[in-house]
Amino acid sequence: QPAIDLAAKGFNLPFWQAESFNSNRDEFFKNDAAKLIFTKETGEFKIGDLFIQTDLAKTLKLIQQNGREGFYSGRVAELMVLQSQKNGGYFTKEDFENYESVFREPVRGNYRGFEIVSMPPPSSGGICLVQSLNILENFNFSKEEWGSSDYIHHLIEALKYVYADRSKHIGDPDYYNVPTDYLISKEYANEISQKIGEHAVRSSEISPSQILIDESEETTHYSVVDRWGNAVSATVTLNSSYGNKIVVDGAGFLMNNEMDDFSAKPGTPNQFGLIGSEANSIAPGKRMLSSITPVIIKKNDEIFLILGSPGGSKIITSVLQVVLNVIDFKMNLQTAVNLPRIHHQWLPDSLYSEEFGLPEDVKTELIQKGHFIGSETVLGRIQAIMYNNKKNIYVGASDPRGFGKAIGY
Ligand code: DON
Repeated sequence: QPAIDLAAKGFNLPFWQAESFNSNRDEFFKNDAAKLIFTKETGEFKIGDLFIQTDLAKTLKLIQQNGREGFYSGRVAELMVLQSQKNGGYFTKEDFENYESVFREPVRGNYRGFEIVSMPPPSSGGICLVQSLNILENFNFSKEEWGSSDYIHHLIEALKYVYADRSKHIGDPDYYNVPTDYLISKEYANEISQKIGEHAVRSSEISPSQILIDESEETTHYSVVDRWGNAVSATVTLNSSYGNKIVVDGAGFLMNNEMDDFSAKPGTPNQFGLIGSEANSIAPGKRMLSSITPVIIKKNDEIFLILGSPGGSKIITSVLQVVLNVIDFKMNLQTAVNLPRIHHQWLPDSLYSEEFGLPEDVKTELIQKGHFIGSETVLGRIQAIMYNNKKNIYVGASDPRGFGKAIGY
């Protein structure tokens, strides 16, 4: 009901939201229904403008009245099929009627005595996070070493192997035999760690592991915990900002452009520069490979950390570094979230960093170690909760890179 009220009666736009609509104006103009909602005839949106979404309110009302049927059949499904057919798309009513969400066993790992529970395929998040942590468990970093070229070097080297494996071995498990147990095993991580030396290994010399398996085939995160210790870590995604920027006429919501999470062509990068292979090729009914990494970390059977992030391919590395900041570097949660991060995803063989993230001497040493320094960009927007067992309280931290908020009740 609160969501229906917000859509029907509107809310006052915060500055960043008004600016965000304005900067996507040209794209919204290409779709009449999007144009009607997300652009303003009289000019640009301003802070405080009342923003009303009448069609969306109707859609939400139908979901309120009919549950999943309110979306996947009836008027809303018909509108989506109509929208798709008008634009040469392939949606049918049956696609929506047959669609079901699936419960899956989470990926589990452990890191320095902490228990990790995260998202299984079709996200690569859980596997990549646990695999990275397993590799890094073979090295030890003192508190003073945070941000040092040695620490970043180890992080990059581990990530190259992890993302190389991601490109080949992970896809929708209903269609592809994902070797999860192998990828998250301590033995395999140890093997990789042996290959990490003082000097960077070129990405071109790293390939996805040759695992012997049967040959067959603006995203949002929220972390919640209640007073009884029930925790939820959820990442939801339309893929690009505002999805494909097409609103279903009459239904008032945007369509995603999740097809870009598939590898359309082996070796050709998607919008995040990720490449893939057969594991994540397009097939009817198959779900695309994701990077979302909602995670719950437990210590002695108690919730310790709940976190996740948007950011496409950078989600995994953002979540990983916050976990490392908390567990290895003993930072308080907000510091762990705020500090600059780095990112490497095997290909391109290039180190992404954030503003002020790499001081000149660290950069020079990394170049000496053989790393290629890439561009500066914002890396993820974490929403996290940590349990402080001394004070018996939960502490929330919302990433200053985004526009979220940590709230306690
Ligand atoms: O599931 C995925 O990996 C992507 N659809 C996530 C996209 C994303 O995080 C974009 N936001 N910045």
